[in-house]
Amino acid sequence: MSLAARPVASVPNDLEAFWVPFTPNRAFKKAPRLIVRAKDMHYYTVDGKAVMDGSAGMWCCNAGHNRAPIVEAIQSQAAELDYPPAFQFSHPKAFELASRIAALAPGDLDHVFFCNSGSEAVDTALKVALAYHNIRGEASRARLIGRERGYHGVGFGGISVGGIVANRKMFGTMLAGVDHLPHTYNREHQAFSKGEPEWGAHLADDLDRIVALHDASTIAAVIVEPMSGSTGVLPPPKGYLERLRAICDKHGILLVFDEVITGFGRLGTAFAAERYGVIPDMITFAKGVTSGTVPMAGVIVRKGIYDAFMRGPEHVIELFHGYTYSAHPLACAAGIATLDVYRDEKLFERAAKLEDPWADAAMSLKGTPGVLDIRTLGLVAAIDLSSRPDAYGKRAYDSMERAFHEHGLMFRITGDTIALSPPLIITEDQIGEIFEKVGKVIRQVN
Ligand SMILES: Cc1ncc(COP(=O)(O)O)c(C=O)c1O
Repeated sequence: MSLAARPVASVPNDLEAFWVPFTPNRAFKKAPRLIVRAKDMHYYTVDGKAVMDGSAGMWCCNAGHNRAPIVEAIQSQAAELDYPPAFQFSHPKAFELASRIAALAPGDLDHVFFCNSGSEAVDTALKVALAYHNIRGEASRARLIGRERGYHGVGFGGISVGGIVANRKMFGTMLAGVDHLPHTYNREHQAFSKGEPEWGAHLADDLDRIVALHDASTIAAVIVEPMSGSTGVLPPPKGYLERLRAICDKHGILLVFDEVITGFGRLGTAFAAERYGVIPDMITFAKGVTSGTVPMAGVIVRKGIYDAFMRGPEHVIELFHGYTYSAHPLACAAGIATLDVYRDEKLFERAAKLEDPWADAAMSLKGTPGVLDIRTLGLVAAIDLSSRPDAYGKRAYDSMERAFHEHGLMFRITGDTIALSPPLIITEDQIGEIFEKVGKVIRQVN
């Protein structure tokens, strides 16, 4: 073993007990990808090897890793107040963070309900939509509309409106009364698009068909990711989200943007809603709110929705919903410090400025053998690889393993698609380094 490859951290000699989520456990435990430390743009393995973070962890660490102001905020919060009850009591930082998030959100999206994960945020938004119609005397509005290939986490609400087959097919009948819009990807019309593809706005009109089938009086809400992330990065066609908003307005249907990935600068604005000039009725967020440091998530709702609940006797709870760890002090401290970093370092603007060089670097891989399509949006890129005839997903899996073990690069995969979404602190040189490595890996696994 060379000096560099000597373990710098103790590793358990039994990997059996931990059932690793969304991971092929047997393959992982044969060649585990273990990370013990991180700083700025890099992870470090148990052997002390640096690995460039091409995915901001899992779309979370937008401020980069282990940033001093965020670390210090968490440390001092832990020493000051560990936990007050989340129901009937609270603490000042919860209100401070909610105000800061509301100030970043567009239009009259000005109230924040806190959760701990994107999945909880989605369930919360769906429940708020149902309850909102209920208290206004429209309880018949009970249907929820999602979209094919959508990812909204793993709760029963999220997988019901979600549209990724593998996440749904083992789990029974899920919520009743759910329908789905078609997804927006069409390789024939959209291949190698930088940014929003020209083709596909008309796919929003399918909502009119769904309304005609079920009647608007039965539909509570539509939920979509402005850019579908986990299914392999599907940027919205030009004009699509505007059209969806108009159809929802026409029929009194609430529109929810799931911005768990697109929130906090990923597309060059605080929220994708701002990039598109489309104001949804609710925004779900998670991940980037604390740059991945402490679990935190939430739902931002428009004033009219919050106000609709504020009635009846004042001693009575207005919404029977919440989590023990809603607005946990550690998460709030981390969130406030993270928003300070985003503001002070102008990281959302930085992402906007880097969008073009990022897209050009990604598109330089066009023509590499086995590359079927490349899509970019903000600081996100996806590369579709041709599948091995008898092993769908294996080529991308091999590329992820080789990138990590041989090239010091981390990215995410879904099916045979490579997805890249680096921390927003990335430099142009590092962008070049990432795509050079990705190109090498793709050629190796071809
Ligand atoms: C759009 C979207 N919604 C919801 C979630 C679920 O978030 P969590 O894994 O924190 O429950 C994710 C996670 O990637 C996501 O991308």
